[in-house]
Amino acid sequence: MRIGVLTGGGDCPGLNPAIRAIVYRGIDFADEIIGIPLGWKGMLEGEGKELNLKDVEEIISQGGTILGTSRTNPYKMEGGPQKVLDSLLSLKLDALIAIGGEDTLGVASRLYGDFKVRVVGVPKTMDNDLSETDFTFGFDTASTTSMEALERLRDTAKSHRRIMVLEVMGRHAGWVALYTALGGGADAVLLPEVPVNLEELSKSILKHHQRKGYGLVVVSEGIEITATTDSAQNEVDSFGHIILGKRAAGAYIAKELEKRTKLETRSVQIGHIQRGGPPTLFDRVLGTLVGIKAIDLVHEEKFGYMASYKDGKVTEVPLEAATKEIKKVYATWLKLLPVLFKK
Ligand code: F6P
Repeated sequence: MRIGVLTGGGDCPGLNPAIRAIVYRGIDFADEIIGIPLGWKGMLEGEGKELNLKDVEEIISQGGTILGTSRTNPYKMEGGPQKVLDSLLSLKLDALIAIGGEDTLGVASRLYGDFKVRVVGVPKTMDNDLSETDFTFGFDTASTTSMEALERLRDTAKSHRRIMVLEVMGRHAGWVALYTALGGGADAVLLPEVPVNLEELSKSILKHHQRKGYGLVVVSEGIEITATTDSAQNEVDSFGHIILGKRAAGAYIAKELEKRTKLETRSVQIGHIQRGGPPTLFDRVLGTLVGIKAIDLVHEEKFGYMASYKDGKVTEVPLEAATKEIKKVYATWLKLLPVLFKK
């Protein structure tokens, strides 16, 4: 078969291992794998280039995506879906594998629903907010990177007897903030799933400071705040999502904490640093397993499905179910917050 593969949305470590696995598994079926550049943008423009063993054999340790990516949404463009259908024909593709998060796979799901496009999905996102899969590759690496950043902040916070606030990515789900704070031993974490209570936070941080002379707070970029330090708070990307990093939620929390506690406070936004770098072993393995599964799904003609990692097993789920709503931090985790972060 001649199978196209594209990567869409924000890049994250694990994309290259997944692309590599698709080529490796494709070899077993004598497939031709066609790399589509820049996500759905490449499909709108009908671009593609064959990927061979030599193109992918050394990329398992590389961050980013060798195919490039974009947040282009064909459904937001005049005649976009038809252009995708035309490209499937001009590139002579028998099937398409879309690697992405909620947005990219949402497009795949609609193309399948509207036109029965022979598409399967591969889940990726550092946010870990995709439903119907326990983990997405990119999350482990990004959270490990921010955890390490928090450990560095502890050194300087301790030396200066300061409060340090670390803002992490993760969009409207708090997975990255939760895992960063847990793994790095923060004193407090603010998640989009829990309303912000500045009074309570200030009191608890004062207590931590009195006890040990410093404090560490992790803030998810997606927390609900009424005011921000940045006027660009409503700027949106091409998928129509607010660019949350521009609201600078961490800087806002730091300012409020300093005002209320009278303790010297600094904030840091890790931003895109946490999206780069080599994938962790977990992300390399997960990317590989779901990549292999995607090729198997194509050969089983299970179109409209996404490879998924559930209950320790690689399986498949309907794209529609996976993209219906985002996966927020589970209630079981929220119940553990008072255990992990003492007030
Ligand atoms: O979805 C991944 C993500 O890294 C989010 O955590 C973040 O809000 C967003 O992408 C940033 O997007 P961009 O790279 O377009 O600034």
